[in-house]
Amino acid sequence: MATSKPLQFLASDATASAVRSGLSSTPKRLPSWLFYDEAGSALFEQITTLPEYYLTRTERSIFESFAGEMLEAAGSDLTLVELGAGTASKTCVLVEELLQRQKRALFYPIDVSPSALQEAVNQLGRQFPQLRVNPIVADYTGGVEALNRILGRKLVLYIGSSIGNFEPDESVRMLRRIRRSLRAGDAFLLGADFAKSAKILIPAYDDAEGVTAAFNKNILARLNRELGADFDPDAFRHVALWNRQCSRMEIYLESLCEQRVFLPMLDMDVSFSAGERIHTENSYKYTMDMVEAILRESGFKLEHTWTDRQKWFGVHLARA
Ligand code: TRP
Repeated sequence: MATSKPLQFLASDATASAVRSGLSSTPKRLPSWLFYDEAGSALFEQITTLPEYYLTRTERSIFESFAGEMLEAAGSDLTLVELGAGTASKTCVLVEELLQRQKRALFYPIDVSPSALQEAVNQLGRQFPQLRVNPIVADYTGGVEALNRILGRKLVLYIGSSIGNFEPDESVRMLRRIRRSLRAGDAFLLGADFAKSAKILIPAYDDAEGVTAAFNKNILARLNRELGADFDPDAFRHVALWNRQCSRMEIYLESLCEQRVFLPMLDMDVSFSAGERIHTENSYKYTMDMVEAILRESGFKLEHTWTDRQKWFGVHLARA
């Protein structure tokens, strides 16, 4: 017998309760994990290739220059794990170098997006026959738990500046959990974007083509799809601000007019005044002092930092 899925089962309880509490708070906010459904993950991939979004290519160039040194410092006979792997496109460089040092390797990419992981499996599996790719679909909490069950000496990657999307106290809690799931000798590579001029930072989060705006607005489209909401994405504007005191980029969706949105599955009406914002993301930009502080507070020892020539981005090797 064919059964069709009722619409209200499209959204998870987590989505429903996060949206309910976020849109009834003042100021309004939505959690940034809502960005990464299939459409959002595809848009984010597109962001990483934009000329203004220096982060991905700068971090990749650091791996290209220093992958050998990084692996040398990390140790031998490594199992590679990547938290928030996405399509793991930057990991290729490390894998290639790793497979010059050991005949075979295991790679556990961990991500919330099954479609991104599938892409990682396809790409890396094809490119490296000596690599066994074991994808794990999990959020950070589940991903850190999965770390416990992975045997052998690990090199855990947490790159792509995802750490920047946590509040500083959350970052420390998260790094502490990672550290507790590692064993003596395991290594941890952290990629973090450095604080820099607003002239560089703002376009990276507000590109000329409008891909970042589309990525931000996809949250509204997602609420329409999954909660039956009637957001008009064109009635909102993408806003990216540099908050220098807090050393973070702030991302908002700003209502262009006074309007009301209905979310039938939450039985909820939300009113917006003209100019009212929904806070969707913070992206913290680290100084060396901040990196040292969060690693120290979470019980890691910072062993080495690699950076690009302009010092725009840093990759940090730490040990428990
Ligand atoms: N981790 C990415 C970052 O902070 C995510 C990101 C890139 C992002 N562009 C964005 C998040 C725009 C929200 C809006 O750099």
